This record gives sequence, C-alpha cells and structure tokens, in this order.
Amino acid sequence: MAFVYKGAARRGAVWSDAFARRMPQLPFRTWPDVGDAREVRFLATWQAPEDLAQTFPNLEVLFSVGAGVDQFDLSALPAEVRVVRMVEPGLVACMAEYVAWAVLSLHRGAPLYLGQQRRGEWKQHSVQPASTRRVGVMGMGQLGCAALAQLRTLGFDCAGWNRSRREEPGVRCYAGEAELAEFIARTDILVCLLPLTGETRAILNTNVFDALPAGASVVNAARGGHLVEADLLAALDAGHLCAAILDVCEPEPLPRGHAFWEHPRIWLTPHVASETQDETAAAALLDNLRRYHEGLPMQGLVDRSRGY
Ligand code: NAP
Ligand code: GLV
Repeated sequence: MAFVYKGAARRGAVWSDAFARRMPQLPFRTWPDVGDAREVRFLATWQAPEDLAQTFPNLEVLFSVGAGVDQFDLSALPAEVRVVRMVEPGLVACMAEYVAWAVLSLHRGAPLYLGQQRRGEWKQHSVQPASTRRVGVMGMGQLGCAALAQLRTLGFDCAGWNRSRREEPGVRCYAGEAELAEFIARTDILVCLLPLTGETRAILNTNVFDALPAGASVVNAARGGHLVEADLLAALDAGHLCAAILDVCEPEPLPRGHAFWEHPRIWLTPHVASETQDETAAAALLDNLRRYHEGLPMQGLVDRSRGY
C-alpha cells in the first residue's frame, strides 16, 4: 500500500516529512517516482494523470490538493474510487481574508477612488456604514460560511444562499432556486463561493445582474465558469453594476487583449484568493487517512453524482 503525491516539489517535501513522522507505515512517493504502481492506493494531486485508472489500477482514494474537484473528469474515474476535496483551516482562513479585502474595497469605493486618482480628480463621495451594506454570499460551504463569519465581524448586513437550507448566526439564509430572486434583490455586494457544477456554471449572468439593485458589485472567488463574461461587461458598461473583483476566469490565465485587463471597474487577481497551506493540509490529509483506515467518514468526501 502506498501514497503518491503529484504536484509542487516544495509541498511534496513538507508532506513527505509529515508522513514520515506521523504515518511511517504508509510509504510516501512523489510523482513520477511512484515505484510499483499496483501498490498505490492513494493519490493527492491537482491534475490527475490522463490515464489514471490504467496508471494506478488499485487506486482507492483520489485527494484533490485544492477545495475544488471540477478539474477532475469524475466520469472517467472507476466508480469505486472515492474523491476527496481539501478541507483544511489554512485554506479557509485565506479565503475569508480575501473576501473581507474584496468586500471592504468595494464598500469603501476603492475602484472608484483609484479611477479618480488616475484622472487627478479630488472628489468625495458619502461614506456608508457597513451595517447598511447588504452582502450576499452564494454557497454556504466551508469557504462561504467562513467568509460570512468574517464579514459579520466587520459589521456588514449578511445573507447567504445555498442549495440546502442552512442556519448561520446573524446571517439571513436563503435556499434553492425558489429563493434566489429574493436573495439577489437584497444584495449590494454579491460574492460567489459556489463549486463549479452543471447547475452552477454560468450562474453569474444577465438575469442575476439585472436583478441586483442598481450600483451593486460582484466578487467571484470561485471559478471562472460561474461567470458569463459578456453579461458582466454589459451590466458594468450600462452603469447598472458598479464594479467587479474577479479572482478566477476561464481560461486561466486570462488571454492577452481580453477586455477585463483594461476595464476601469474590474479588478483582477490571478487565482490567489486562497491556497492550500502545506502544514495544515498535511495534518488534514493524515487525519483523513486515519479516518479511512478506521472506517470513519473522511472530511470533504465528494458526492460524485453532485460533482462537489
Ligand atoms: P463546499 O464546502 O463543498 O461548499 C459548497 C457549497 O455550495 C455547499 O454549501 C453547497 O450546498 C453549495 N452549493 C452547491 N451547489 C449549489 C447550487 N446549485 N445552488 C446553491 N448552492 C449550492 O466548498 P468550499 O470548500 O466552500 O469551496 C467552494 C469553491 O470555492 C470550490 O469548489 C472552489 O471552486 C472554490 N475555491 C476557489 C479558490 C480560489 O482561490 N479562487 C480557493 C479555494 C476554493 P449544500 O450545503 O446543499 O451541499
Ligand atoms: C483553488 O482554487 C482550490 O480549489 O483550492
């Protein structure tokens, strides 16, 4: 039985050390030095090898090194292979921080003032208290709930929208398609933290943008596939939306010459909203392996039929 890690060497070194200390009985191998591939029961990677089932015929668990699993072709995996996304506190904390930064920037008009500075324009706009700014987070999972908790400490009027009904202290919770319109209509700053699935692809579109209050802004820290780019540009250029902060796009990197690069009211970050943190992620992986061996449910086990 062996564990294979396929990814950045620096993380591999940290994880190899952690495995040697805490689970020495499980050989840790680093791609492409996998040894006898038939012994490999566990693979942790962002990008699986194309012929995964042939490469590791006895694979039992595929761990994503990130929170998302949309990069895997789940339909090509043998049915018995479990897929596990990364649930670890370092990744969650970084995302809460990014969302706080993005929401505060939009709340305090940072894109507006940057534009004014570039034009040499000294013009004051009224300051609105956070308690009157309605922030709405789509996706109340690990990341969405952490972001909401952080936003609450900053005093925002917070709501969340989720597939199944959630209850979060101090957060107005909406559930399912039936309550999407009501959620959108009360949202001044919309934050997307949904997984990318057949149901959520292109969810940030004209219907949603038109239903947001005039002057609303959008943050997409989930996946580029959630956003219909032309619809965002149209809503910004029509003056209905105020600004957008986008951490993700499709494809990545954003192609040269793309309209987003130069748009005065779009801020881009290059898919850095959050990142798996090597030490805390090693602890989470080892804990999941322990759970697996003891027959307990693993944290972040993906429902393959739902795609997240
Ligand atoms: P998670 O814990 O699985 O949470 C996903 C949430 O979305 C769940 O609460 C789920 O509802 C909800 N959801 C799923 N489909 C839905 C739908 N059709 N309508 C409404 N709600 C729906 O995932 P997470 O760890 O929070 O991560 C979310 C995503 O963030 C990842 O999939 C990844 O794409 C993205 N991400 C981006 C970065 C970055 O740096 N930009 C970093 C990490 C992650 P239920 O409770 O009903 O299941
Ligand atoms: C990053 O995008 C992740 O899914 O962890």
